[in-house]
Amino acid sequence: MEILIRDSAEIGCILGAKIIARVVREKPDAVLGLATGRTPLRLYQELIRLHRDEGLDFSRVTTFNLDEYIGFAGTHVQSYRYFMRENFFRHINIDPQRTHVPDGTATNLHAECRGYEQRILDAGGIDIQLLGLGRNGHIGFNEPTGSLRSRTWIKILSEQTLRDNSAVFGSFEAMPKHALTMGIGTILDARRCLLLAFGPAKVRAVEHMVEGPLAAICPGSALQLHPRATVILDENSSAGLHYADHYRWVDSHKLDWQRNG
Ligand code: F6R
Repeated sequence: MEILIRDSAEIGCILGAKIIARVVREKPDAVLGLATGRTPLRLYQELIRLHRDEGLDFSRVTTFNLDEYIGFAGTHVQSYRYFMRENFFRHINIDPQRTHVPDGTATNLHAECRGYEQRILDAGGIDIQLLGLGRNGHIGFNEPTGSLRSRTWIKILSEQTLRDNSAVFGSFEAMPKHALTMGIGTILDARRCLLLAFGPAKVRAVEHMVEGPLAAICPGSALQLHPRATVILDENSSAGLHYADHYRWVDSHKLDWQRNG
């Protein structure tokens, strides 16, 4: 795991955008795995700026989102399809046909999960998967104790996750309690993973993910198995790490070709 600690979430998001932009510049038909949530919003804004000001071209890019609430159509304002359209897709020159979000309204959800896996394979696999981290260590909607080898599946959201996300819903009761999500095995198949976690609420999850044992109780710890996982943190979220000085040391002694952005 490559751990990059930056002074602020703002700087971390700009770096994350730079990393993704480089992938798109080097491979114009790249396949991007995307996340929703509060964390990547600033990163998407920076990618939009790079598109507008520097001509970053998404016309041949394909995307696959991590997850979607069950029962929400893409027109629902709380759906992740809607989130992606509003916060990213409609501001860049991406072909909407190439943007994939699991269909939470599919009549056969199991078939939708299998089909999603197949569509990722057909696209050639994911070049870089963007991830956030839940306070309980979840990635995608893979909640604690879910199989570390899981493929796209149906998950019951934990009470903590629902409470963390309830602010945007207005009420806990109104929230869907189930979601479709790429599995941890699906995420680990991406050629590169890029996880962002900022703020004091993520301290414990970051500590367990980076320095804890590889364990299903912290799904994010599965990234320890990934040959190319980059984790971008800020001072707040990295406050519980025992080896923070070591990560800073490694970061400041990289060879030129090892540097990100
Ligand atoms: C979102 C997702 C989730 C979030 C995580 C953190 O597509 O898969 O794992 O990344 O819940 O959410 P925020 O960024 O809102 O703290």
